[in-house]
Amino acid sequence: MADTAQPTKAYTASSDFIAKAHVDAAGYEKMYAASVADPVAFWAEQGQRIDWIQDYTKVKDTSFELGKVSIKWFEDGKLNVSANCIDRHMARRANQTAIIWEPDDPKTPAQHITYAQLLEQTCRMANVLKKHGVKKGDRVVLYLPMIPEAAYAMLACARIGAIHSVVFGGFSPDALANRINDSEAKVVITADWAPRGGKKTPLKGNADQALLHCSDKVKCLVVKHTGDQTHWTEGRDFDLKAEMEVVSPYCAYTEVGAEDPLFILYTSGSTGKPKGVVHTSGGYLVYAAMTHQLTFDYHDGDVFWCTADVGWVTGHSYIVYGPLANGATTIMFEGVPTFPDAGRFWEVCAKHKVTQFYTAPTAIRSLMGLGPEWVEKHDLSSLRLLGSVGEPINPEAWNWYNTHVGKGKCPIVDTFWQTETGGHLITPLPGAIPQKPGSATKPFFGIRPIVLDPASAKVQTETETDGVLCIADSWPGMMRTLWGDHARFEEAYFSQYPGYYFTGDGCRRDADGYYWITGRVDDVINVSGHRMGTAEVESALVAHAKVAEAAVVGYPHDIKGQGIYAYVTLMKGEEPTEALRKELEAWVRTEIGPIAKPDLIQWAPGLPKTRSGKIMRRILRKIAENDFGALGDTSTLADPSVVDDLIANRMNKA
Ligand code: WTA
Repeated sequence: MADTAQPTKAYTASSDFIAKAHVDAAGYEKMYAASVADPVAFWAEQGQRIDWIQDYTKVKDTSFELGKVSIKWFEDGKLNVSANCIDRHMARRANQTAIIWEPDDPKTPAQHITYAQLLEQTCRMANVLKKHGVKKGDRVVLYLPMIPEAAYAMLACARIGAIHSVVFGGFSPDALANRINDSEAKVVITADWAPRGGKKTPLKGNADQALLHCSDKVKCLVVKHTGDQTHWTEGRDFDLKAEMEVVSPYCAYTEVGAEDPLFILYTSGSTGKPKGVVHTSGGYLVYAAMTHQLTFDYHDGDVFWCTADVGWVTGHSYIVYGPLANGATTIMFEGVPTFPDAGRFWEVCAKHKVTQFYTAPTAIRSLMGLGPEWVEKHDLSSLRLLGSVGEPINPEAWNWYNTHVGKGKCPIVDTFWQTETGGHLITPLPGAIPQKPGSATKPFFGIRPIVLDPASAKVQTETETDGVLCIADSWPGMMRTLWGDHARFEEAYFSQYPGYYFTGDGCRRDADGYYWITGRVDDVINVSGHRMGTAEVESALVAHAKVAEAAVVGYPHDIKGQGIYAYVTLMKGEEPTEALRKELEAWVRTEIGPIAKPDLIQWAPGLPKTRSGKIMRRILRKIAENDFGALGDTSTLADPSVVDDLIANRMNKA
């Protein structure tokens, strides 16, 4: 939860910054008013940021009406996303660096990939995909380290109209198999091993295990990255780099419709099964490009660094699609902030003269704990702007970031958005909107935030208010559906508050109309800026033979924002031992991945349930937060005594 104390100080960018900025305060007000007054006219103009093979005549056809939710932007336009990210820059930028690849080990040289090289590598990879039978509309799963091939693969799919689904390299073989099967992918692209922080993950080994549970028609293209040994299945596995060398260096791009899917990205929801969020081509690209340019105030010659992994939406929109659509120079970093030492981020900023740096509060908090001396060792004079994403940033972390990294002269953009939204929803525009530490500030163009009372669903009309956050109208970057399950899409996002898109987040609006995101109000927790469904972790736990029942909640964690707290009831006759605790932790790691490992496991002889058998999570959350003074009404519990036992043996006594 965000700090409720409201710091009054607002930080304004320097006059130099404002003078150069794409948008100033008056410009924001005017453009925002225009964007909501006449979205069709506004987006008709903004749609021209990208190149169309056939221009659109229809701009917006959207409905949030339950039972009929349908979202179409630039519907009759035709384009190709890879041509927009590469080919159209060739006349002016063929020799400009598109991607700077910074490897895990700083002793390995960085690579500077020009737009001309990006075109050739993307084309070669597209030709390999074609050779393996991938056609427009087919799905390709990418399970890769943060290497340039990840960008080539995304753009190669886009080039031939195939739909990519990137699976974060930290996910387990089971999670990978589920995603391959749910999207019925034809091909998986992976690498032999993924080095990170000096350790190596066996991506190909994981893929081998996953593929045991998939159709034997699925092919596996392997990037030999570290060159270490892997198991090889003849006829199924292919050496991707070797194949790229022998195909043609050019591949013509395929024309796709604006509403043809560009990618699927699985994310956690309130129920067990991850949701396959579908983004389409035209609207997504317009929105990613526009937000990248304006939120980060990107100018030609800047070097933009987003530290996310391409396995998350942040990497899709702000490492690959937004920057490349704008002809930018974007950094891809394979490593972690603390390897080989806690100065790595700042060393890379100095080395590549980074101008905009975009990271997550969890990284800032962990580096803050190691002391400012790691920052001070490096020359950060190239930095003009800092960004934050993934969770609320607490004012302490904001102030540290501002003082030690930004030296008090870089605006900080606290960008609130989601996998589902494609790009920023609420964020300061750095030259236009003064920042308050901990507030995502004001809506981006075209975004109409609405605060509702969670119980009555009444729209809160006063400026100063709090409640749940919804969005009243569509914008081009939003998701279109859930893969293969439009009914679940409507149910998950449009049924609680009919007529509105429900974000799942709570928020507060202050007297200045600034938004403060207070965190999820559903059963999703945010661990180190990664979304995790509590139901997903629960179903992993109960799949273990010794577990009878499990309930998972979030609790405040100094570094991670939220930690995972699991209450576990064992099968009759099983002993709660330290060894079993370790076994369950390891079990969740293999079922989902390391990011889902519970931080605390409490043995619970019983869980607080209503007489109808429903687990009262409110009580479990309170105990996990070590705040059990006000548990509220427990009289409806079937057996109120279980609560005393849970309190007595709580794990978070700090
Ligand atoms: C949270 C990441 C507060 C929020 C782009 C949202 C934030 C979820 C912020 C989406 C922020 C993201 N301030 N909370 N600036 N940014 N969140 O889908 O709870 O991985 O619903 O997308 O992260 O996480 P996702």
